[in-house]
Amino acid sequence: GKQGYAHYMLKEMHEQPGIIEKLLHHYGDHAAGTSLDHAKLTLQHRQRLGIVACGSSYYAGMVGKYWLESIASLPVDLDIASEFRYRNTPLSSSSAHLFISQSGETADTLAALRYTKQLGITSLSLVNAPASAMARESAGFIETLAGAEIGVASTKAFTAQLMMLALLTLRLAESSAHCDAGTVKYAMDSLRHLPEQMRQMLKQQDAIQAIAGRLRRARNVLYIGRGMAYPLALEGALKLKEISYIHAEAYPAGELKHGPIALVDDELPVIVLAPPGELQEKTLSNLREIASRGAQITLISDQAGVDLAADGIQDAIVMPDCNAMAMPMLYTLPLQLLAYRVALLKGTDIDQPRNLAKSVTVE
Ligand code: F6R
Repeated sequence: GKQGYAHYMLKEMHEQPGIIEKLLHHYGDHAAGTSLDHAKLTLQHRQRLGIVACGSSYYAGMVGKYWLESIASLPVDLDIASEFRYRNTPLSSSSAHLFISQSGETADTLAALRYTKQLGITSLSLVNAPASAMARESAGFIETLAGAEIGVASTKAFTAQLMMLALLTLRLAESSAHCDAGTVKYAMDSLRHLPEQMRQMLKQQDAIQAIAGRLRRARNVLYIGRGMAYPLALEGALKLKEISYIHAEAYPAGELKHGPIALVDDELPVIVLAPPGELQEKTLSNLREIASRGAQITLISDQAGVDLAADGIQDAIVMPDCNAMAMPMLYTLPLQLLAYRVALLKGTDIDQPRNLAKSVTVE
């Protein structure tokens, strides 16, 4: 049941810190012989990795691409399943494929898995449902251990996918010539603080409630970010569309001036994701460009970022300090909560939004 929560989505959002703890425990430092270990052995001498998924699982794959390339030096080709399966891309036997799916039953992702298998390419899956078709049909599967997800909009399955991609990256980095042991150990240690940081974040409902009150009447919302904050912007926009029925769009912050800045006026709410790191200053300068055109900006950043943005913003969600590797999981939370709060104010059917099915078994 919902265990006292108003919606499954709310319950599932609150389960996230515990799931991260469970994943750290199950797949952490010395978990030899786990499915993650098996995946490492399968992937460690590959020239490339193909990642294929749909929806939120695809956005998790985007974050995975950033990590795998920059930390484990493994080049990643990322595809949306319904595109990948029809585009006759040349695949090499020195590559492997990873299919990401909460349900393990999504028709297009499953068809893409069968297609690569037919071509003799090693195919792994990252699934939340161990008894699913994808788990059965892939050469190996990694389980996200998030437990059954009932809310149609993915929350805990998404952060569990991110966490597993982080752990997979660190495992592969251990044996990469381009990454030193200290870096891996430091990242691993910092992931251990994540459950606590997530709990801290989940307590900050007041700021989010106030922002939701302003967004509920919006017709369009723009989400922007750079680097790994870009796939998170996509995920935040998807959550808002799915459950609050407000049109939302995400853009890499650096692309604004190539078109979408034409939309910015004093009626456009913009959610700016500016986590700490080398891209923060660049994102904040994009923020200033749209602030000067009147955009109503909500900034999601650390205290330093909020201080730097100063009076350019209308609202802020101040995030706990965290290491770069923990950032995507942590910064997903306010995006989920915001979509949830807006939907609540609008009175939509949050756990079962119109036109959507939990598992998309038709193409
Ligand atoms: C978004 C959402 C969908 C799924 C997509 C893939 O909240 O739930 O976009 O992520 O339908 O589903 P799975 O991961 O089951 O393959």
